[in-house]
Parts: sequence; C-alpha cells; structure tokens
Amino acid sequence: MTPPPLDRRAFVVASAATAASAILSSNVAAQNAASGKRNAKIRVGLVGCGGRGTGAAGDALNADPDVELVAVGDVLAGRIDTACAHFTEKFPGRADVPKDKRFVGFDALEKVLASGLDAVLLATPPVFRPAQIEASVNAGVHIFAEKPFAVDAPGVRSVIASAKKAREKNLSLMSGFCWRSSLPERAIYQRIHEGGIGKIRTVYATYNGSPNAFVERKPNMTDMEWQILNWYHYLWLGGDHIVEQACHSVDKINWAMNNEPPALCWAVGGRAQRSDKHPGNIYDHFGVTYEWEDGRRAFLQARQWENCPTDNTDYVYGENGIAFINGWGPHHAIEGQVPWVYEGPTTNMYVEEHKDFFAGIRNGKHRFDADWATNSTLMAIMGRMAAYTGQSITWEQALNSAERQGPTTYALGPVETTPVPRPGHTKFT
Ligand SMILES: NC(=O)c1ccc[n+]([C@@H]2O[C@H](COP(=O)([O-])OP(=O)(O)OC[C@H]3O[C@@H](n4cnc5c(N)ncnc54)[C@H](O)[C@@H]3O)[C@@H](O)[C@H]2O)c1
Repeated sequence: MTPPPLDRRAFVVASAATAASAILSSNVAAQNAASGKRNAKIRVGLVGCGGRGTGAAGDALNADPDVELVAVGDVLAGRIDTACAHFTEKFPGRADVPKDKRFVGFDALEKVLASGLDAVLLATPPVFRPAQIEASVNAGVHIFAEKPFAVDAPGVRSVIASAKKAREKNLSLMSGFCWRSSLPERAIYQRIHEGGIGKIRTVYATYNGSPNAFVERKPNMTDMEWQILNWYHYLWLGGDHIVEQACHSVDKINWAMNNEPPALCWAVGGRAQRSDKHPGNIYDHFGVTYEWEDGRRAFLQARQWENCPTDNTDYVYGENGIAFINGWGPHHAIEGQVPWVYEGPTTNMYVEEHKDFFAGIRNGKHRFDADWATNSTLMAIMGRMAAYTGQSITWEQALNSAERQGPTTYALGPVETTPVPRPGHTKFT
C-alpha cells in the first residue's frame, strides 16, 4: 500500500515573512519568449554571498551567457565585498553589481527583490529559506533555493504553500539538490526506474564526512554574528547535519523510492566525538531506518567524525541486482542479471542545474522541484526527530509537528542556544 500523500489541507503558512509588496519582476524572459528572441537578458539577484552563494552565482553566469547579476544581499558586509570582487574579476561586464545594489542586513532579500529581477538565488543558511521562498514567490521571480528547503515542519508547510502559489504563477522553483542534475546520477536512476535491477527492496546510503571548521570568536562579536559564521554547528540555523548535509543522501533515497514518502522511521544518534565544551548543539552521527508500507526499507548512516574514513555511497538493492552510486568516487554501476557501468560524460552538475533553470525560464517549461525537494527535506527532518526523541516518527507526525527552530525575530544581538537533545528524554512536539 502506498503511503498517503502530503496532506495539503493541513498546511498553514506559518512563516512570518514580510511579504515583499507586489514587486513586478521585469520578466524580460517572458517578454522575449513572446517575441521569439532566445538571448534575452535574465536579471538575477543573489542572497547569501558565502561559499555556495558565490559558487551558485558563478554557475548561473557560466550556464547562460545572457544572465546578468544585478543585485546582492547578505547580513555581513564583508561577505558581499569579497563576493563582488570575485564576480567583477571573473565575469567582467556581467556582474559588476553597483554599490547601491549591494544590500546588507536581515532585510536584504526584500531590497534585492525590489531590484527588477527575473530570478533570485537563495543561498543563506537554511532556516531563512521558507520565508525567503515566500517573499520571492510574492515578488513574482523565478527561484533557485539551495537545499534543504527548511529546518523544521512549520518551514516545510510554508514552502509547500509557497510552492502551490509559485505553480499558479508559473514560476520556476529549483532546488540545490544538485545530484538530480548530475548526468551519471540521472542515467543510473533512470535505469533503476526502467527496471534495471527489478523491483526495489532496500536502499542503504552513507554520508560519512568530516566535521565543519569553526570560525574563532572575536571579542566584539554578537551571538548572532558568531552563530551565523558557524551556522553549520547550530541546530536552529542548519537543522543539524542530517538535514543540512546528509539530505543529499536522503534525497537520493527519495529518488530511488520514486519520491514516495516513507510511512515512518526510527533512528539513533548522538555526539560521540563532540564534548559538552564543543560549541554548537548538533549531533555528530545519525543512523536512520525508513519504512514504506509495502515493506521497502532504507537505511541511512551519516556522521561527521575526524580521523575516520569518509564515504558517500548509495546502494540500491533490487530483486535482480544492486546499483552502486558514488558521486564522490565517481562510480555508477549495476551488478546482477544485467550488469551496467556508466560510460557517458560527467559535467559540472551545478552548471547543469542552472542550464535547466534558465532554459526553463526561456522556453516556459519551468523547472519545478518543489514536490520531491520538500519530501526530501521532511524525510531528513523526520530522521532527526526520531534520533533526538528515540521514538519512531510517522510521516504525518513529522509533517504536522509544531516544533519550530530559532528566534522569532532576527537581529545582531544575543541568541539563546538550546540544549543538545537526549533520546528518551527530549519530547516530540
Ligand atoms: N548543493 C550543495 O552542494 C551545497 C554545498 C554547500 C552549501 N550548500 C547550501 O548552501 C547554503 C549556504 O551554505 P554556504 O556553505 O554557502 O554557507 P556560508 O556560511 O558560506 O554562506 C552563507 C551566507 O549567508 C549569509 N547570511 C546568513 N543569514 C542571512 C540572511 N538572513 N540574509 C542574508 N544573508 C544571510 C551569511 O553571512 C553568509 O555569507 C546552505 O543551505 C547549504 O546547505 C549547498
């Protein structure tokens, strides 16, 4: 029996986002599509000028010669300066963002959205994403939103509501689940879905990486600045590493399972290497078992341990064979009744996703990842809930959870750090 789909009636837009007032995008792409031109300029804005944001804007500029970066925003001015110096050097004439289009602060998004954009790239820490997606949909711009889409269930429900609106407005909503745009992954998952290993029984996935580095705290830094600089380590900002990083593996489990949500999961997790003195409040390992009502199961192992081997492999077990997927390897192969090895090209998946994004904006076949990307995000959150509480958690429980992460307003001041969760003691809410 197929698990019930997302209960859309239950969705409440919980986000307190300032809806960007009806800012009409210039929508150059649509105008030029109407006149048959292929090389219309697409005006892009970026919010979150850190590592990935700088990378994503570069990928966008590399993917389409008629993309221009016209506005940027970040809460930290230094990040904007570094990113803009990079863009000017690497993409002269296409990304010389003027000083009055560089916005600093928690309200930077609204100002970027008011800069006459066709599309926006959202690459801040994930907690801000639901409100950002909502504001971007209200502004009528096409959206590239980095993964994960949210860090809690209210955030997921908000994104589902925004996605519905985006679809009605004919906007693209592309996610940063980049493996979906990788050519070898596309080839092997297509083969799996065409019956290359028979009926799928089980998936086992690993996301075993190393800890993220810590930025030193300077005496004048507020809690907020310090935590944003070290956001990977703070539950409210990143959702813990199962949601923020291992979500790639969770997404590939979801992909293998045809984007059908599991019925329930249970999990283990904790801090084996991180002492109580270690700043931040996330776990350093998780092991999750996901169950589907028809008996399929998936197992995820994710850890952030130093001095230990790393691995990022997906094993998809079918009745007639096993598929091995390792994008880091790379290795994409099937063993079994009909062996197969990927021998096609491997291109930059980050540029591929932006090629799709802009092609869709130009030809009206908009890339729309929202349904499966919100599922993948919630599957990861559900695994975290199960590990933190020690209880098994159903899909419906996870989706309807009231637990909300982080402060209700954002300012560069004090931020309380919540205690590290303890299975059997931390309650599900
Ligand atoms: N798809 C991938 O392979 C991949 C790889 C790395 C990161 N990511 C994702 O990209 C996102 C950013 O990660 P990163 O590594 O670039 O982090 P980062 O810390 O390098 O950059 C984040 C930037 O956002 C800014 N910021 C924080 N809060 C903000 C707000 N409310 N408004 C505006 N700016 C804000 C920070 O100052 C910082 O410059 C995360 O969601 C992460 O999961 C995806």
